[in-house]
Amino acid sequence: MNRRYRKTIIAGNWKMNKTISETKAFAEELKPLLGKPKWCEVVLCVPYVNIPAAVRAFKDSRVAIGAENCHSESHGAYTGEVTVEMLKEAGVKYVIIGHSERRQYYNETDFTVNKKVRAALDAGLYPIVCVGESLEQRELGVTMELITYQVKVALAGVPADKMRHVVIAYEPLWAIGTGKTATAEQAGEVCEAIRAVVRKLYGARVARSVTIQYGGSMNARNAAELLAQPDVDGGLIGGASLKAPDFVQIVNAANQE
Ligand code: 13P
Repeated sequence: MNRRYRKTIIAGNWKMNKTISETKAFAEELKPLLGKPKWCEVVLCVPYVNIPAAVRAFKDSRVAIGAENCHSESHGAYTGEVTVEMLKEAGVKYVIIGHSERRQYYNETDFTVNKKVRAALDAGLYPIVCVGESLEQRELGVTMELITYQVKVALAGVPADKMRHVVIAYEPLWAIGTGKTATAEQAGEVCEAIRAVVRKLYGARVARSVTIQYGGSMNARNAAELLAQPDVDGGLIGGASLKAPDFVQIVNAANQE
């Protein structure tokens, strides 16, 4: 983390978990445990149908609500999809784009990710852009090339003044939901490389200010070590964001002055 230049953001990604009533119960449990964290922003990305309940439940708190996906078009015949304007009006601030599960199961590509990123920014949302390599790609030694490519395509056509809204999440596929976390050095190294790509594209000032998260089996036990890396500015948390006490411990690890 480096708070002098950029925000620390801890974001939960609930994926396909929790009903509306469970969302409300979670909020009531989380709020008193969380208090008002001063040094980091807290985000919960929840399933579409839970968004109104989550926005209402967290309105008097410091927790911002995010979506887990969006469509890139502004309207039209896309059965089952949701636009960025719909999300904005529902009270959403952040939107996860290009999560590896969406790339894997729903055919998202770097190019669809780029379209969604631009649509989200145009609507005034804050995209959390996910990048990451598979185990095979890591073992082949192409992690840095792949990440560079993913970041470059995701940000194509994004003007420098919009970059203050962009969050990048490094999520190695082999660490997601596996209990196998990247070492702090591995996470730090790739997050540093992501910042170097942003620097090449936008210059040092923008690169310094962009928040880069790590995601993949981040939990109460390993969060502090990962966040101690200078280029790891927060976390995107799956499993551990579903239990309020676990999530709070991660926030506490990030919320050090
Ligand atoms: P886990 O924390 O469950 O490994 O999930 C990480 C993730 O995919 C967050 O987007």
